[in-house]
Amino acid sequence: MIGTEDKKIEQLTSFIKSVADKPHPDSYLIAVLHKAQELYGYLPREIMDVISEQMNIPTANIWGAATFYHYFNLNPPGRYTISICLGTACYVKGANDVLNAIKNHLEIDLGQTTEDGLFSLQPARCLGACGLAPVIMIEDKIHGDLTPKSVVELLEQYRKREK
Ligand code: FES
Repeated sequence: MIGTEDKKIEQLTSFIKSVADKPHPDSYLIAVLHKAQELYGYLPREIMDVISEQMNIPTANIWGAATFYHYFNLNPPGRYTISICLGTACYVKGANDVLNAIKNHLEIDLGQTTEDGLFSLQPARCLGACGLAPVIMIEDKIHGDLTPKSVVELLEQYRKREK
């Protein structure tokens, strides 16, 4: 029986093969990295090595592309993924201040996971709840009308649940 990990590798390999015949296959690197993140939830180091081998692109170049874009996670996602909306309505209503409060409180940047593995932070486009701007989403639940103070209180509620 084929294990889940083998199936993921198979899917990734067939995706890479599907772009290999196209002109300039290396221009599909970002699409391949998206596919890998969709399959694994993040970009494991060994998977970047697989991509490097199969696409014939040096690992350093792949690593460079993966670290350049915020939406690629290089670490396993935390127990809770916080998606902060950086869409226009949220931005105008102070999303940046909320983002900074989260970053300072959790001591992580976008695309990172807290040391205790509890929270990951990722940017999002409009989450479809502009009337509640600024908003974040944790585990499919939207939290709106946030301020730097209320978002910290919210995160602490999640932390307490885990104790
Ligand atoms: S812009 Fe943030 S929910 Fe629409």
